Amino acid sequence: MNNELFWWQTGVIYQIYPRSYKDTTGNGVGDLRGIIEKIDYLADTLGIDAVWLSPFYPSPMKDFGYDVANYVDIHPLFGTLDDFDELLEKAHQRGIKIIIDFVPNHSSDQHPWFQESRSSRENPKRDWYVWADPNHLSPNVGLSEGGGYPNNWLSVFGGSAWEWDPTTRQYYLHSFLKEQPDLNWRNPEVKAAMFDVLRFWLERGVDGFRVDVAHFIMKDPEMRDNPPASREQLSFHRPHGEYDSLEHLHDKGHPDAHGVYRDFRALLDEYSTSSARMSVGEIHIFDWGEWVNYYGNPAEGLEFHLPFNFSLLKAPWEAQAIRQAVEDHEGALPSWAWPNYVLGNHDEERIATRYGVEQARVAAMLLLTLRGTPTIYYGDEIGMTDVDVPPDQQLDPFGLNVPGLGRDGCRTPMQWSQEPNAGFAPKEVSQLWLPLADDWGQTNVQNQLDDLTSMLSLYRQLLAIRKAHPALQWGSYTAVDGVPEGCYVYQRQGAGQTLFVVLNFTGGPQRLSLQGDGLILLSTHLDRTGPENLRALDLRANEGVIIQPGS
Ligand code: GLC
Repeated sequence: MNNELFWWQTGVIYQIYPRSYKDTTGNGVGDLRGIIEKIDYLADTLGIDAVWLSPFYPSPMKDFGYDVANYVDIHPLFGTLDDFDELLEKAHQRGIKIIIDFVPNHSSDQHPWFQESRSSRENPKRDWYVWADPNHLSPNVGLSEGGGYPNNWLSVFGGSAWEWDPTTRQYYLHSFLKEQPDLNWRNPEVKAAMFDVLRFWLERGVDGFRVDVAHFIMKDPEMRDNPPASREQLSFHRPHGEYDSLEHLHDKGHPDAHGVYRDFRALLDEYSTSSARMSVGEIHIFDWGEWVNYYGNPAEGLEFHLPFNFSLLKAPWEAQAIRQAVEDHEGALPSWAWPNYVLGNHDEERIATRYGVEQARVAAMLLLTLRGTPTIYYGDEIGMTDVDVPPDQQLDPFGLNVPGLGRDGCRTPMQWSQEPNAGFAPKEVSQLWLPLADDWGQTNVQNQLDDLTSMLSLYRQLLAIRKAHPALQWGSYTAVDGVPEGCYVYQRQGAGQTLFVVLNFTGGPQRLSLQGDGLILLSTHLDRTGPENLRALDLRANEGVIIQPGS
């Protein structure tokens, strides 16, 4: 074991969307006690090291919890602060760290801070949000009762980012829904209040924060218009026309955010005496030079332990493109910065939907064998696919505003068993918050536990092999050249171990010629291990293998 490394470097993170994990109360929505019930699954069946919980705070649920009405409590749907403390304690007893979602860019419009802010222009909290006068010179950017929008900024979820407030006759900014007003981080009182929120959770013992749209918190102080897009925009989540028609120069990613995150890191460090507290920032920036700044730097101060690396999600699923994405990431990092990879979350199409269930196995092997911290999205370990939610059951405001972009499909209830409601909710519950996938009777944890070739068995083996091999946890990464075009091969080396990962991204067989002999430790097909002549290594369609070279 390399004693210099922290849990967030050697470990594997697992994201739980609390609404969809396990419902113990019978209202069709998952809750914290449900997660407590599943700790054995997390600790023993899977063997993950940390859980990231999507928001569980009081919220009107316009954006399913990313509209927070109280940052220091639990929504009754999910339970109580006592339940949270119990979850934290039980997770810690089992060696699992808890990372919670921190949503700094915006609150709910029902948050008392915003209620005060909008009550009058003189209210002391007026400046806690971003207010602006109508722009009478820009009728081109929309008219309302109050005059033109202050500028041309757009909401990620569709339409203008400005909402008219008839009472105080100004617009307020909302980078997402109009029910999610943007907080004004240029006001020191906002920063102080939000840092108190962080202290509240740190004192309770949380191990880290996933910071929602971290790069949005600072905007151009002059609020200049965004120029039209001059190149293809790599979208926020999924490509969408209107938002992508502008280059988002001024409405997010302002360098002043770095000062905030340096102080944020210093706060985490203050609380890191007995165990490291970490942060992972959701940063949709696809310019590596700009993205890497969110690690901070040793001279001016560190920032995020891990800015989420979404590059694999954006790259075409082809061996060479994925290798390129990995090497661009590796190449962008200063020597002291730690890499990370993610292939799914509650905003993206699931892996098995994007690449098909067969390539989903290759994806699992890639994710869990690259150099850097992997984050697994709940349900991907059993190969859940996106559910085609019928229009009358769609809930996600993104999809309701911009048809086709709904995220309900990747947020459906976890499929645990063949019990009614897939074991997600008590059997008498007649309606779950989102419908189950049609295949839940076959694709569920219980079935896959008994099937030694299932996706779950593959994830379990990959997690176990990663845990048993320091070379995979922190060894070096080197790509191997001269392999067939549809294959991606790399070597991981450390602690006196060398392993090769050989991935066939194609639907046809491939023959590779590596050096010497070796032992196959694991195939994604889960049907072969043992000695192999590497000079003529045959991979089947959609197969990946982990090889230990030498006889
Ligand atoms: C993040 C979340 C997403 C949410 C948005 C606004 O991207 O992951 O689910 O809708 O921020 O908070």
